[in-house]
Amino acid sequence: MPKEIFGPDYAFLPKSKVLSNLEILRIAQSFCELGVEKIRLTGGEPLLRSDLVELVSSLKKETSIRDLSLTTNASLLPRYASKLKEAGLDRINISLDSLKDDTLEKMSGRKTKATTVLKGIDSALSVGLKTKVNMVVKKGVNDSEIISMATEMRQRAITLRFIEYMDVGNTNQWKLDEVVSVDSILNKLSEHFSFESLKPTYKGEVASRFKYKDINSEFGIINSVTKPFCSNCNRARLSADGKLFTCLFASKGTDIRSVVRKEISSKELTELLYSIWNKRDDRYSELRSNSSNELNSEPRVEMSYIGG
Ligand SMILES: C[S@@+](CC[C@H](N)C(=O)[O-])C[C@H]1O[C@@H](n2cnc3c(N)ncnc32)[C@H](O)[C@@H]1O
Repeated sequence: MPKEIFGPDYAFLPKSKVLSNLEILRIAQSFCELGVEKIRLTGGEPLLRSDLVELVSSLKKETSIRDLSLTTNASLLPRYASKLKEAGLDRINISLDSLKDDTLEKMSGRKTKATTVLKGIDSALSVGLKTKVNMVVKKGVNDSEIISMATEMRQRAITLRFIEYMDVGNTNQWKLDEVVSVDSILNKLSEHFSFESLKPTYKGEVASRFKYKDINSEFGIINSVTKPFCSNCNRARLSADGKLFTCLFASKGTDIRSVVRKEISSKELTELLYSIWNKRDDRYSELRSNSSNELNSEPRVEMSYIGG
């Protein structure tokens, strides 16, 4: 959690309010009935969940999910990488915004060292997990590291994904002029590397992908601020306490926890999820790009709660 939220007085949710693995599994099975094929476990920090490996294992064994991935800050990854791989995890995304410890602290609000994250990356690679690295780019903070990060990840043949800094939540005091646009990221990269753009592999792919011409490796850019992709967005998000959100920038979610804790059949649960999804009309990022639009003025959920 960012330092603005997490402090000595922070009240953690009691365990009874957090979805159990069985409840998550049931909700995942209903989503699969509706055609969902991908699940990403994120957070907060998913590796802090003590029964995460069991969750991965049951999602792989007891649902038809074909792509199960995890987004993590990698601090605990050396301990869990091989267990996660054995449990069936397909892919992992690791957040690393800087190779400099003080900048990393500014970006993440935590005192993690870059070498700790790099060790986590190497532990994922050593057990054969498909690995990508995410770098949120913020003007004047870490944009001077676009080339050094690209170079570091090229050496490991890892896909690096540059993410435009977004106004998720309320605590990051986001300003549009802190966003480094996709075009300026590409300009910087083109001064050092030769690359070509790749076609999306599926509808709704969030990253624009590029292949380096000299090596068999690629990078991506997630340009949700300067080129929003709301109309292609196909992500539903479920919080740890069981709220279902149909947009990353929403203020409210629908309580699914209380529903799964009642005597509800799987068919009824599936119908409920279908009706929530079918009614959605969120397109916050598209509205934000046109300043004449009225944006939702209610506080938005935080990134550490909804998971990115
Ligand atoms: C919120 S984190 C949660 C998972 C895990 N704790 C981690 O650090 O990767 C998920 C992703 O959101 C990204 N992220 C966080 N704040 C962001 C922002 N303001 N704009 C864009 N991406 C952001 C992070 O870099 C990370 O890749």
